[in-house]
Amino acid sequence: MVQPSLSLKPALDAIGKAIDQRFDRLLAVPDDPRARLYEAMRHSVIGGGKRMRPLLVVAACDIFQVNREQALRVALAIECIHRYSLIHDDLPCMDNDDMRHGKPTVHKAFDEATAVLAGDCLHDLAFGILADPATHEDPAVRLELVTELAIHSGPAGMAGGQMMDMVAGDVAYDLAGITRLQQLKTGALIQWCLEAGAIMGRASEASRKSLRGYARDLGLAFQIADDLLDVEGESAKTGKAVQKDAAAGKATFVSLMGVERARTQANMLIDQAIAHLSAFGPEADLLRAIARFAVERDR
Ligand code: IPE
Ligand code: IPE
Ligand code: MG
Ligand code: MG
Ligand code: MG
Repeated sequence: MVQPSLSLKPALDAIGKAIDQRFDRLLAVPDDPRARLYEAMRHSVIGGGKRMRPLLVVAACDIFQVNREQALRVALAIECIHRYSLIHDDLPCMDNDDMRHGKPTVHKAFDEATAVLAGDCLHDLAFGILADPATHEDPAVRLELVTELAIHSGPAGMAGGQMMDMVAGDVAYDLAGITRLQQLKTGALIQWCLEAGAIMGRASEASRKSLRGYARDLGLAFQIADDLLDVEGESAKTGKAVQKDAAAGKATFVSLMGVERARTQANMLIDQAIAHLSAFGPEADLLRAIARFAVERDR
């Protein structure tokens, strides 16, 4: 696997810093018994991770010259949802993982009750950030962001995909079934990032359609890359345990078609994702670079 293209590294570093600063401000620890809850949220959201969803939001917003500060609020909201999904995904009742981002998972560093509540609160914070007038002056824009996020994170989106994933040991998924599982579990939040950029930028229907096509293929390829890393990756780089999916009976593209064909499929999807951007010029170069990174990454 190769390192992210040089042009993407500064963008990833910059978004990581911007998101960390904002979480630090948002989650000041109160001097009362709720301190533990705030500490657990901070443990989850500050540092670690690629911040790929926030970068997708900012890259999509940039196409339409959206105000950067407002774009970063939208980016913060999706990272809240993503980190909540990881806290719950790692719980003993789900994937039972002890390590995330190279440190103990939230339920290990704190306890299960605190981890459940920290996840719940990050979910709540996301909607609060989007509904705040600071995110966009037009309430119709804020409402659309909120409505779409509810769809993409709920039973018709991420959480529904997680349910499909949890029963994967008992259900014999075929290729169409796995595609649906992964489109929901991972694709849905990634799709929201592009949709959100289009909403913030009041994009034309044609632009939205292009971005949706890109997001759909990217989301699928991104999860195939995650599944490949589970088989072939190194825990020292991914910051999480590897070789767990097969042991847990998880249905993935890799379990169904093998490593080589899964990699070919991921690369093909990325070519397709980039092809969806053909109507855009250099203003979409960052989205093109993110797409390559999604399958070339080693973490
Ligand atoms: C991991 O997502 C969970 C999946 C949906 C595959 P990421 O690989 O984006 O997680 P971090 O935040 O960068 O660690
Ligand atoms: C997690 O998928 C997807 C969500 C959290 C929605 P995985 O279970 O494959 O993610 P990792 O491998 O633990 O990061
Ligand atoms: Mg999981
Ligand atoms: Mg997991
Ligand atoms: Mg995984």
